Amino acid sequence: MEQTLVLIKPDGVQRGLIGEIISRLERRGLRLVAAKFMNVGQELAKTHYAIHKGQDFYEDLILYITSSPVMAMIWEGPNAVAAVRQTMGLTRPTEAAPGSIRHDFALEIGRNLTHASDAPQTGVKEVSLWFKPDELVSWERATDKWIFE
Ligand code: RTP
Ligand code: MG
Repeated sequence: MEQTLVLIKPDGVQRGLIGEIISRLERRGLRLVAAKFMNVGQELAKTHYAIHKGQDFYEDLILYITSSPVMAMIWEGPNAVAAVRQTMGLTRPTEAAPGSIRHDFALEIGRNLTHASDAPQTGVKEVSLWFKPDELVSWERATDKWIFE
């Protein structure tokens, strides 16, 4: 089953949107695998966003993600990466589709509420960066057969 890392970034936590965002992922049919509420240290932030090093927004991005706690989660399902990115909406909230989280709750690219892995291979990498193997819960949900074909 494909897995994706989801972060509710500091703005989502501070604005009281944890429940709303989790609710949308649950209703979509995705299955929760792991969750932890945590502060992000410099080292983790820099490893996670290594791909953006050198960009003009990089320093602000590190400040943003380390500024206050995040809710880190793993969600799984068929095509979980694409499904979650669609539910989040495009990076720039003013380009995100109506009904997506970034459209419905955000205005600025540097306060866009969530992170989600951008490809299945990135998902694998990010899951192991953020979680230890024993933090993942493998379980069957009573509704799985009505959601997963
Ligand atoms: P994310 O990694 O957070 O899920 O977002 P994404 O794939 O949609 O966007 P990405 O290109 O990976 O950028 C990571 C985060 O950096 C901030 N950003 N700011 N000011 C800018 O031009 C700019 N570009 C990117 C955003 O917070 C974005 O989510
Ligand atoms: Mg990204």
